[in-house]
Amino acid sequence: MKISVIGTGYVWLIQTVWLAKIGFSIQAIDLFEDKIEKLKSGIPTIYENGLEALLQETMRNIHFTTDIASSAWSDIIFLCVGTPQDEEWKTDLTYIKQAGNDLKKTLIGNEIIVIKSTVPASTNAMMYELLGSKNPVVSNPEFLREWLAIEDFFTPDRVVLGFKDGEKHEVIDTLMEVYWYFSDKWVPILQTNWQTAELIKYAANAFLATKITFINEIARLSDSIWADINDVAKALWMDHRIGNKFLNAWIGYGGSCFPKDVKSLIHQFHEQGLGWDILTKVDETNTSQVDYFMKKVWNHYWTQLNGKTIWVFGVAFKPDTDDLRESKALVIINRLIKAWAMVQVFDYNAKALENFEKYTYGLATGIRNFIPIVISKTFLDMTKNADFLILTLEDKRVLDEDFDMIANNLKDKTIFDGKNILHKDVMKNLWFEYMWVGC
Ligand code: UDX
Repeated sequence: MKISVIGTGYVWLIQTVWLAKIGFSIQAIDLFEDKIEKLKSGIPTIYENGLEALLQETMRNIHFTTDIASSAWSDIIFLCVGTPQDEEWKTDLTYIKQAGNDLKKTLIGNEIIVIKSTVPASTNAMMYELLGSKNPVVSNPEFLREWLAIEDFFTPDRVVLGFKDGEKHEVIDTLMEVYWYFSDKWVPILQTNWQTAELIKYAANAFLATKITFINEIARLSDSIWADINDVAKALWMDHRIGNKFLNAWIGYGGSCFPKDVKSLIHQFHEQGLGWDILTKVDETNTSQVDYFMKKVWNHYWTQLNGKTIWVFGVAFKPDTDDLRESKALVIINRLIKAWAMVQVFDYNAKALENFEKYTYGLATGIRNFIPIVISKTFLDMTKNADFLILTLEDKRVLDEDFDMIANNLKDKTIFDGKNILHKDVMKNLWFEYMWVGC
C-alpha cells in the first residue's frame, strides 16, 4: 500500500511516524527543503515527547521529500496542512487550497484524499470539487494534545471518518487497512458524513474550552465568598456524569487549538445566521481570566510594582512543550513589564526558554531601551533577588523543589499560584502569603 502525508508541522510529522511505526512505507511531503534535510538526518522539526526516538526508529520506512508529484498513485494521501485564523476569526484555508491545487496537477488515479487538518464545514466538499469530483475525499480530524500527541495517536478515544454521502462503500476497505491497527484495541471508529466529522472536531474543543471557562467563572465566585475552588472541583469530579477532566480553574486556556477553534466556531455560527452566546462568553471570559488573576497581584501590592523583581515560573502554554502560542505567561510578563517591574523567568523546558528568549527581543522598552527580563538556569536560581513568585505552569516538578530555601530567599515570601498546583497548607506552614485562583 502506498501512503503519502502532505503538510508542515505538528500533525504531519506525528501522522507520518505513526504510520511508519505501524508498518507502512510513507512519502512524507513538505514544501521546505531545510526541514526535509533535517528530518532525513533524524532530527525532528517540532518538539514533542518521544518523537526523536520514534523518528529514528521508523526512518527507514519514510521517504522525506519536497516533491508533491511523488504522491501520485498513492492509495491514500493524508493532508495535514495548517489552518490558521484570519483577522475576522475565520479559518484561513489558503494552505488547504494550495495543497488541493498542487494535487490537482499530480493525481493520476483514484487516490483517496484524507483531510486531517481542522477545517470548517464544507471544506471537504470544496476539496472534492477542486479535485474535479474524481477522487474520494474523507474527513478524519485529529484530537492530539501536545506532549501526549504520540500516545494520542496510538490510543485515541475514537477515530472519526467522514465520507461524502453515499460514497463510503467505495473507500472504507482501503481506509480500514490503516485503521485495522485499532481493531483489537477497543477504539471506536465513528463513520459519518463530511460535515458531521468537520463539526465534531470543533464541538470537542469548544466543549472542553467551555468546561474550563465554567470552572474559571465558579472560581471567581469562590474568591468572593471564600469558598475553595479546588474542593468544589474535586466534588464535581466525583460525579461520574460530570467527569474529572478539564475542570481545573487556572488562568485561562492557551495553545494553538482552543483559542483558534472557539473563535472559528463562533464565526461558523454567524455565517449560518445563528448567534452563539455561550461560546462568545467563553472566549471573553478566557481573555479576561488572566487579568482577573492579576488583580490579586495589583490588590496585594496596591498596584506598586515599580522596582520589584518578580519571579515568573513557566513560559510555555503547558508543561514540557516549547510552545508559547497564546501562553498566558506572556500576557502576565507583558503586564509586569508595563508596570516597570523586573522579571525573572524559568521553565523546565530548555526549548521553551530558547523560544522565549527570541520573543523577548521584541520587548525592549523604548525609554530605557533594555529588556527587564532575566532568564534563569534553574528553578532555585530564580529565587535569588526576587520579591515574590507568580506560577503560570502546571508542571508537577515544582512540587519537588525546596520551598524551605525558597521561603528564605524570597524577600516578600509571597506566591500567586495561577495553576493551583502548590498545597495551600504546606505553603501556609512555611509562612508564605499564598494566593491562588478561586480563593
Ligand atoms: C487541545 C485538545 O486537548 C486536543 O484534543 C486538540 O486536538 C488540540 O487542543 P492542547 O492544546 O495540546 O490540546 O492542550 P490541552 O492539554 O488540551 O490544554 C489546553 C489549554 O487548556 C492549556 O492552556 C491548559 O493549561 C488549559 N487547561 C486545561 C485549563 O486551563 N484547565 C484544565 O482543566 C485543563
